[in-house]
Amino acid sequence: MSSRAIGIDIGGTGIKGALVDLDSGELLSDRVKKSTPEGGEPEAIVEVVKQIVDELLAEALDGDSLRVGVCFPAVVIDGHTMSAANVSKKWIGLAAEELFEKALGRDIHFVNDADAAGVAELRYGAAKGVDGVVLLTTLGTGIGTALINDGVLVPNTELGHLEIDGHDAETKASYAAKERHEWDWEKWAKKLQRYYAHVEALFSPNLIVVGGGVSKHHEHFLPLLKLRARIVPAVLRNNAGILGAAALTSRAHVEPHGGAPLHSTTAS
Ligand code: BGC
Repeated sequence: MSSRAIGIDIGGTGIKGALVDLDSGELLSDRVKKSTPEGGEPEAIVEVVKQIVDELLAEALDGDSLRVGVCFPAVVIDGHTMSAANVSKKWIGLAAEELFEKALGRDIHFVNDADAAGVAELRYGAAKGVDGVVLLTTLGTGIGTALINDGVLVPNTELGHLEIDGHDAETKASYAAKERHEWDWEKWAKKLQRYYAHVEALFSPNLIVVGGGVSKHHEHFLPLLKLRARIVPAVLRNNAGILGAAALTSRAHVEPHGGAPLHSTTAS
């Protein structure tokens, strides 16, 4: 099986994709990036994804055998998008995977964007080799979360929408909230402290990985947070979604020990 795949990351503001080497986690092409169409409607987003995939396939010599992974900012259950926080409400309940497959003329693997980023950080980045509970959070338009225990992902945790002090947490602690209110790093760090302390009390992670574009400025806010868990910036930054979506197309690249159970369940 080819150890290359295409990863597509759909976000509230941009849609990006690249060809990925699944063994090394490196990008084998330039990133193709386009704006998310105004309103985030299904047909318009599918059309942009098709353009990006077509551009990437045109570059690759073995286009026909390449798998395509797509990640999206919503709860994804059995290929259906079950929520829509920063895109059109028309996505709610939609058979989204099928919609993309019809437009692209091929099977795809379809997952939540933060779950894809979490898998990528676990496989290639800041959480590589870390046992126990790892929580990846992406701070962007919303807050995305991926909860992983001993290398196994619990999908669709959506901890960005925890209610804290009567508010949907991402409306107070996302990077978009910082921008909207023009908060400086210290003021935003106070919101992040409230958020991460709450999540830590609920899930007791060993490691928290902070992703999203703003993680490249981590020195301004991570040192201000006081938590028991180690909290570190993501390594893959804005490529994590692309890498994770691509990796999830291949079982051997995402499951502990290449798909074998992590701990033997056979009685001895
Ligand atoms: C969505 C999540 C998504 C996160 C980051 C949230 O608003 O509900 O599904 O993972 O934003 O994009």
